[in-house]
Amino acid sequence: MPLLIQQVPPTQAPIDLLLLADPSEEKIRSYLHQSGCFVASLGAMVIGACLVRPLGPTSHEIMSIAVHPEHQKSGTGTLLLKWVIDFYRRSGAQQLEVGTGSFGYQLAFYQRQGFRVTGIERNFFIDNYNKPIIEDGIRLYDMLRLVLQLTKTECGPE
Ligand SMILES: CC(C)(COP(=O)(O)OP(=O)(O)OC[C@H]1O[C@@H](n2cnc3c(N)ncnc32)[C@H](O)[C@@H]1OP(=O)(O)O)[C@@H](O)C(=O)NCCC(=O)NCCS
Repeated sequence: MPLLIQQVPPTQAPIDLLLLADPSEEKIRSYLHQSGCFVASLGAMVIGACLVRPLGPTSHEIMSIAVHPEHQKSGTGTLLLKWVIDFYRRSGAQQLEVGTGSFGYQLAFYQRQGFRVTGIERNFFIDNYNKPIIEDGIRLYDMLRLVLQLTKTECGPE
């Protein structure tokens, strides 16, 4: 069955899936309705989702991206991320931003598409979440900010 990636209204966002990327439903709901919502589906089953909110007329932020655990590591997340990047590049946006943990495979996931680290928000995950977030047995404290320039090609991959 072919993978279908499309934009859908935020009201159709699969919250359960997005909670894999942002463990606070309250936070997801706070940016959901101003965000672009993109889903990857196999037939009637949604297996991936991504929310992107505008920061300004030419800048947008990936707020969350997630793939159902049974479908991870099969290329779906990369296809969805590339589709979203292409969507914003074609819409005339100049840059996409994302915040992610300071360690883990997610860092490579974004950098493979050309995202570059631009800053660090120390203690972000302590200051913004009630419960500790543990990944690979390590507590997440700091968030890295990454930016992908959509109008330049010299820093990105082929
Ligand atoms: C991040 C995520 C969207 C990637 O989707 P995906 O469909 O698994 O991505 P891909 O199959 O394209 O894999 C991309 C890379 O991530 C790696 N990866 C994916 N899931 C992984 C996991 N759970 N543990 C370790 N590596 C993982 C893949 O092995 C691949 O690396 P490789 O090319 O060196 O093998 C998905 O893993 C996910 O939903 N994770 C939980 C939510 C999350 O952390 N979202 C990002 C918030 S910043």
